[in-house]
Amino acid sequence: MQTKILSTSDEDIKYAGGVIRSGGLVGFPTETVYGLGANALDGEAVRKIFAAKGRPADNPLIVHISRFEQWQSLVTEIPEKAERLAEKFWPGPLTVILRKKDIVPYTTSGGLDTVAVRMPSDETARRLIDAAGVPIAAPSANTSGKPSPTSAKHVFDDMNGKIEAIIDGGKCGVGVESTVVTLVSDVPTLLRPGGVTPEMLEEVLGEINIDEAVYSKLRDGVKATSPGMKYKHYSPRASVVLLKGEFDKFKEYISSHADENTVALVFDGEENGLGVKAIAYGRQDDSLSQAQKLFAALRAVDELGADKAYVRYPNREGVGLAVYNRLIRAAAFEVIEL
Ligand code: TXA
Ligand code: MG
Repeated sequence: MQTKILSTSDEDIKYAGGVIRSGGLVGFPTETVYGLGANALDGEAVRKIFAAKGRPADNPLIVHISRFEQWQSLVTEIPEKAERLAEKFWPGPLTVILRKKDIVPYTTSGGLDTVAVRMPSDETARRLIDAAGVPIAAPSANTSGKPSPTSAKHVFDDMNGKIEAIIDGGKCGVGVESTVVTLVSDVPTLLRPGGVTPEMLEEVLGEINIDEAVYSKLRDGVKATSPGMKYKHYSPRASVVLLKGEFDKFKEYISSHADENTVALVFDGEENGLGVKAIAYGRQDDSLSQAQKLFAALRAVDELGADKAYVRYPNREGVGLAVYNRLIRAAAFEVIEL
């Protein structure tokens, strides 16, 4: 199939909405990463998302809405805590999990009785949902396992020929996927860190739990609360290793361990004098700038044909927790203390 590149004009958005309504797939921008959308209420359409991405069928999708009323049609009950979250953070990079109504097919929920819902703040995303006239199920628009796409080109590189259309809405503002929180458990639990930080959630909810899979590898035999956390993620072909310690030690380590197939992922301004190719992934003291550049940097590792990438260890405060969470998965949890 020929994948059309669309603009954000009214005409193109209307066309894309028609594609979704008639059971097709559209790549579209959001404020976090690009999504791969289908009609969330059409199990057949949603199945095509799993096929295009090579995604395991038990990994549930996030349903995107543009109006509050749509939420009520998807979940059995909206508890007060959920309402408070929506009031504070929607539209925006927060996904909330509640019990699903029958109208949500099990294909969308990955076989679970719950459904993840988010109202994106990106204008184009909301215009698309309006044009489609249905809630849109959308995972990140990358091939399963690869770094998430933060530009239309990334989506094209992974999905060309597999989907009907891609809306080019420029680069994504946040750069990492939404914060996922479940309100199905007794205490609200953070399943995936993102642009909305644990501190911001606690201001609205009081105490929250942070799922142990946020920081570390799921232990053998432990069932994943969020199925997505059990799969290898965000990885370039090259093997990724996080190096924890000061920049001087990082340089020393690189000079004794690197060869011509090694690249370094460093903070802005540290690229020169390392003796290997280097890619910057944001300012050292600015987690949001790291979030914005991280996935493009991981894709660039492969574009350079590297087989090993040594990465500066990020600060885990605030949005930094999301950066760290993606990086340790890209590194298959390999961290070396310098
Ligand atoms: O920012 C985002 O959230 C992007 C954009 C496109 O909106 N979407 C995204 O979707 O990152 P995806 O499919 O790549 O990640 C969804 C995550 C997965 O880890 C999945 O397991 C989890 O959310 N998830 C979805 N529904 C769930 C549910 N009912 N229970 C537990 N985890 C769920
Ligand atoms: Mg994803």
